[in-house]
Amino acid sequence: MTFLVTGAGRGIGLEFTRQLLGTGHHVIAWVRHPEKSSGLAQLKKDFSATLTIDSADVTNEKSVSDAAQKITTLDVVINNAGVLLDADDDFESLDLDTVKQTFEVNVYGPMRVAQHTLPILEQSKSPLLINISSLMGSVTDNGTGGYYAYRMSKTAVNMFTKSFSVDHPKIKTFCMHPGWVQTDMGGPNATTTVEKSVTGLLRIILEPQKHATGSFISFEGKFLSW
Ligand SMILES: NC(=O)c1ccc[n+]([C@@H]2O[C@H](COP(=O)([O-])OP(=O)(O)OC[C@H]3O[C@@H](n4cnc5c(N)ncnc54)[C@H](OP(=O)(O)O)[C@@H]3O)[C@@H](O)[C@H]2O)c1
Repeated sequence: MTFLVTGAGRGIGLEFTRQLLGTGHHVIAWVRHPEKSSGLAQLKKDFSATLTIDSADVTNEKSVSDAAQKITTLDVVINNAGVLLDADDDFESLDLDTVKQTFEVNVYGPMRVAQHTLPILEQSKSPLLINISSLMGSVTDNGTGGYYAYRMSKTAVNMFTKSFSVDHPKIKTFCMHPGWVQTDMGGPNATTTVEKSVTGLLRIILEPQKHATGSFISFEGKFLSW
């Protein structure tokens, strides 16, 4: 199968790319600055025939449009690129531009990528749209407050996922929580290694028939409350 992974240069996106290539899949890896990812450069040496690297900033319409036009076949879109910009802000000090920037990447980004790849995805026999969300977007789970921009953006991407799944019943669509993962975003105290997180996510993505479209699912296969 052919997968598109956004934000593929590091963290969870790079690990998706590594594990998918290692199991024989084709990956189109979108990154803002391809030359800056030594991880992708190494993968390109090992998987030159099955890895395509292209530059795409998910906040930029032309960038996404140009990159999407080069794709000829596609089965799975993994909207992984994301930012956490307000970890240190309380409500009183939060700059609303931070909320806007967060939505640009975490909400409009996945929507833009889906809009531009939809015509190609619809040609697949088993199309999937995966939006990497977060448990921090769960209204039910929010017992500690804070993280306004990040939490709100992930709640919004969950609603995007649900509406898209209703409107496109032939495309299986999930929003997924990767756990608290040891990446630049998750930090060194995170409880889940990037390998374990992605192995869990792929177990679900590669057997999508086990889960209802429009679901919010953790990397451990649990259904999460909205
Ligand atoms: N780590 C966690 O604990 C955790 C928990 C829950 C959910 N998540 C979600 O998992 C996803 C991946 O997170 P991560 O932990 O791997 O984060 P990360 O290590 O900070 O990596 C973020 C990735 O997103 C890319 N990105 C940021 N802005 C972009 C843009 N405008 N266009 C294209 N790519 C962009 C980055 O590219 P550059 O290298 O160019 O900056 C990088 O590849 C995110 O959606 C995040 O919200 C993570």
